[in-house]
Amino acid sequence: MTRPARAVIHLDHLRQNFHRIRSLAGEAEIMAVVKANAYGHGLTEIARVLAEEGCRHFGVTDASEGQALRQTLAHAADITLLSGIFDLKDARLASAHRLTPIIYDERQLDCLKHAGFPGSVWLKVDTGMGRLGASQPEKLLKSCERAGFRIRGLLSHLACAEEPDHPLNRRQIDRFSSLCTRLGLPGSLLNSAGLSKGYAERFSCVRPGIALYGSEPIPSRPIGLKPVMQLQGRIIQIRHLPADHPISYGATFHTPAPMRVGVVSLGYGDGLPRQLSNRGEAFIQGRRYPILGRVCMDYTIIRLDDALVEAGDWVEFWGPNVTANEVARQAGTIAYELFTGVAGRVQRIIRE
Ligand SMILES: Cc1ncc(COP(=O)(O)O)c(C=O)c1O
Repeated sequence: MTRPARAVIHLDHLRQNFHRIRSLAGEAEIMAVVKANAYGHGLTEIARVLAEEGCRHFGVTDASEGQALRQTLAHAADITLLSGIFDLKDARLASAHRLTPIIYDERQLDCLKHAGFPGSVWLKVDTGMGRLGASQPEKLLKSCERAGFRIRGLLSHLACAEEPDHPLNRRQIDRFSSLCTRLGLPGSLLNSAGLSKGYAERFSCVRPGIALYGSEPIPSRPIGLKPVMQLQGRIIQIRHLPADHPISYGATFHTPAPMRVGVVSLGYGDGLPRQLSNRGEAFIQGRRYPILGRVCMDYTIIRLDDALVEAGDWVEFWGPNVTANEVARQAGTIAYELFTGVAGRVQRIIRE
């Protein structure tokens, strides 16, 4: 029997999220961000379902992710490389698989020219995030035009979109809009949080990632998304421990009284943050149960007391009943890190 540690992927939720995003995006094109194995959800299935729902444009990190995605998708789909190309080999992959890289420096252009790249590029500009971006966009634009590459548009990224009232949002949007106008190019700026704030009509292409997977980008302003991933382990043993019995590594928890506990087949080696030790909760059939002691590599122990829970029951750590945002808050991280941190050894179970 396979070790019961699984991430159930609810495709019906993915479809609903895509249509919710579609309605928020207005006339803007959607570039579905499926980098990092579709945020840990499984690139092939996620891209297939989004394509079935009408999505024609996908964003991945680099050329090798782009090559993998091209094998799944029809030639007609657009695949953008959000980190661009790193060397000549990437430029050749981009040429062979009709991938669309972002460009932020001349060195990348040289690689593309060398590879005889026939496609189009996005120009990446920094409007306030202080990450990737062309230092002199006008100059780079001229070089692209001289090299004969078609320019898809300008692309930039918001630094504080999940804080809707942060003044940097307005500054970035204004800077980006005026740059697009000055250079006469269409623009792509908004991620999930920016999109849910409602600026979509101002840009030609939006780039939702986390919202597709059903995690609310701004939890205080939910837009009705449904969690796609449900991370589950199973109770593999029930123990009746006496009072003052230590639990797990470091004996950080001692039973205050005789206690019935469950050992669950999922731990930090599967992607459950160790920061949930003595603090997180697990969900079984309508109720939450506290995590006792330290989360181990392969196991987590939960307090059951007299609940009608048996060995063999499935236990949810995040999913439709406990949001990844809530777990992330308890663990001092973000839902993105939880999703992309789910280990390769966890089975992905696809539910239509
Ligand atoms: C350049 C770029 N665009 C879009 C996204 C999608 O962002 P989100 O998942 O917040 O929607 C990301 C994610 O990291 C990104 O790096």
